[in-house]
Order: sequence, then structure tokens, then C-alpha cells
Amino acid sequence: MAKMWAGRFKKEVDEKVNDFNSSIAFDHVMYRHDIEGSIAHATMLGTQGIIDPAEADAIVEGLRGILSDLEEGRLEFDMTAEDIHMFVEAELTKRLGDTGKRLHTARSRNDQVALDIRMYLKDETKEIEALTRELAGALCDLAEEHADTVMPGYTHLQRAQPITFGHHLMAYVQMLLRDIGRLEDTYKRLNVMPLGSGALASTTYPIDRQLVSDLLGFSGPTQNSLDGVSDRDFCIELASAIATLMMHLSRLSEEVILWCSWEFKFIELDDAYSTGSSIMPQKKNPDITELVRGKTARTIGNLTTLLTMMKGLPLAYNKDMQEDKEPIFDSCKTAKLCVSTMLPMLKTMRVLKGNMRAAAAKGFINATDCADYLVKKGMAFRDAYKITGTLVAYCIDHNKTLETLSLEEYREMSGLFEEDVFHAISLDTCVKGRNVLGGPAPEMVKQQVAEARKLLSE
Ligand code: ARG
Repeated sequence: MAKMWAGRFKKEVDEKVNDFNSSIAFDHVMYRHDIEGSIAHATMLGTQGIIDPAEADAIVEGLRGILSDLEEGRLEFDMTAEDIHMFVEAELTKRLGDTGKRLHTARSRNDQVALDIRMYLKDETKEIEALTRELAGALCDLAEEHADTVMPGYTHLQRAQPITFGHHLMAYVQMLLRDIGRLEDTYKRLNVMPLGSGALASTTYPIDRQLVSDLLGFSGPTQNSLDGVSDRDFCIELASAIATLMMHLSRLSEEVILWCSWEFKFIELDDAYSTGSSIMPQKKNPDITELVRGKTARTIGNLTTLLTMMKGLPLAYNKDMQEDKEPIFDSCKTAKLCVSTMLPMLKTMRVLKGNMRAAAAKGFINATDCADYLVKKGMAFRDAYKITGTLVAYCIDHNKTLETLSLEEYREMSGLFEEDVFHAISLDTCVKGRNVLGGPAPEMVKQQVAEARKLLSE
């Protein structure tokens, strides 16, 4: 494709350099945003009398035609074009002749690309946020259903204290709520309109930047032309919000993988969301979650790529910045793919309550409650802690649990123990008793669910 900037040059660009330079292979996905941006720009040029209003109308019509031809498959991208911006402009000129050549008045590709990528990422951010809301909603439903399903809570992956499965799931909802907040925050800074920054120093034409901003639904124009074309903070912020979201999904995936193992067997994934082995007939593998965990790596890599790409750039635009697109597009695509695949997987998994409870009954996870029992009878916590530790050691030596010790055995350690100790250390008591704000008791889980649903519906 002939170069728009060929005037300055005596030779054609080397073919390999042309391919090296070209970004259309990955920036063609912004075609709709590029065209909509150009429509707003042309409208403004006409309104301001910078170009003849009749020509502005023709340009708008021409651009609309290109958009519908692309969408309905009548027009294909020219992969020899330098980028999506050049492709659309060349196509317009092909269709309109000299009128098409007026579109790029008072504009540079530097502010054009800054506009396009913001518009594109605004849409992506909304989609990712909506999917994240849906995932959080699904976890709330599951948590409500399992508000009183007792399971062991872990620290160091050792059974620690009894909790409810609903409480465990609601911890992830809290993470997702923060992820949603980060996406919303990123959106605010994405939503600023850079067109009019020109190549770097704005323009001498009497443009109306507020009009373009309004036409495109931005909150307002950017305030500094150098920053307008050289800012990619919004890419970095979005990549960071996505990497954090993916890190959360990866932790949940890791737990699902553990829970599916024979060692835990807390859940069973639906056949539609698991895979088999080519050699071992007994296998049912949680591949989805392993891929989510694996794909988290690339989103962290993308964030690092963007930060590293930007860190040494002098103002204003530098071609290095063309390297922003592949990583941020990949992060968006990965997040959408992972959230939307995990959603039905979580909705259809079977929760094996009996196994969770059985695991909670082992491992002395009520030892803290046993010590607290003595404290409530007047003993100092450190003494109670020591006595309970001795009881646990005794149980291990005699292959017993705190539930199966006799009252006599208890009383040998402390006269404060009475019949009611068995009630105090029962799993249900332990869980129900943790009914402070933020605790795992069923009523608290239900309260958390209600709060989260309120936030999700805002
Ligand atoms: N394809 C370029 C990019 O993505 C568009 C801007 C090019 N500007 C320039 N002066 N070469 O960054």
C-alpha cells in the first residue's frame, strides 16, 4: 500500500521494514473505534468551518459505509497497510477522492491512536467488569447455599479452625469487589479524550475539543497535548487491575485443584468442565483451573512489558508505544476468557459436604475452642493453651480426638472441665460461635452475602 507520507522520500520502504513497522495485524481490532473517532472529528471539522460542512457530511457518510462494509464482510483489511488508521483513511480516499484527503486536517496519528486505544479499552473494561460482577454474583449464590456447610479452615495448608464453605467463598467475593473497584477507577482515567493534542503540540486550527469529547461520550478533553499523546498510564492501570483479578482467579483455581484431589475430595467438577487422560482411564482432571492459573502468568508478564516499554521514553510519542497493544489486548482477552469459563464451572460443581465435614472433624481444629472453654471458666489463655496442647498430644498418642476423650481424661488435666465441654468443642458450636462481624457463622455469611449483593447491584 502506498505511503501517505511518501512525499518526503525518494525510495520505497524495504518490504521487511514495512512488515516490521506495520501494526495492522493487531490494531485492526480497533477499526470500529477508529471510524467512530474519525466521524466525530470530521463532524467537528465541519461544524467549525475548518472544512466545508458538505464535505464533512460526505466524509461521515463514507466512513459509515466503510464501517458497515467491514462489519458485513464486503471489505477486508489490507494487511500491507501500516496500521488501522492508514487503512481507513486510504479506503476513504479511494471512495471519495480529494474529499477523503481532508479528514486528517488538524489531527495526527499520535492523538488518533491515543483516542482509539482509549475507546477500545473503555469497552473492554466494561465487559470485564460485567463478567466479574457476574462471577461475584454466582459465588454469592453458592455461598448462600453453603452458609452452614462446615469445612476446615487452613493456615500453612494445615487444618486450623472450623469455618463454613460459604465464608470461604465470600472471601473471594471480597477480592472480586475490590477488582471491580479497580476496574471502575481505571475507567475514570480511560474516559478522557486526547484528540486535539495533534502530533505533540496541538494545532493552529480552531478545533472544538469539547464537542469531540461530547460526541464520543468522554468525560472531557485531556489537559496537556504532550501528555495527551504520550500517556499510556491507562494501559498500565488496566493491565494491573487485570493481573490482580487474574491472581485472585488463580488462587481460587489452586484451591479448586486441591479440592478436586482424592486427598481432599471436597468438590467434584461437572463432566462438562473437566478433562480426561489419554492413558489413565480413571483420571478426571481440573484442566480449566490449571489453565486459569497458567494464564495468570501472561497477564503479569503483560503488565511488566508495559511498564518496561514506557519507563525510558522521552516525551512525547515514540514508536515504542505501538508495543502497547499486543500486551493489553492479550490481558483483556485472557481475563474475559478465564472469567467466562470459570463461571459455569463453578455453578455446576458438586460440593461434597460430608467430606468437608469429615475433614473438619479431624486435625484438632477445635483446639482453640477447647482452650477458650477454659478461659471462659476463669483460666488465663496461656495456661489454657498449654493444657489443651497437652491434651492434643495425649490424643495423638492414644489415637483419640478431643470429641472422643472421656470427661475423666479431661479432668485429669484440669478440674475446670465439665460435661459441657463436649458441647463447647462440637464443630457446630465452634462455627456458630464465631458470629462477630466478618466471621464464618452462618448468620454472618448471610449478612456478607446481602452486603455484597447490594454493592453488586449498584
Ligand atoms: N501504529 C501506531 C501506533 O500504534 C500509530 C501511531 C503512529 N504514529 C507515528 N508517528 N508513526 O502507535
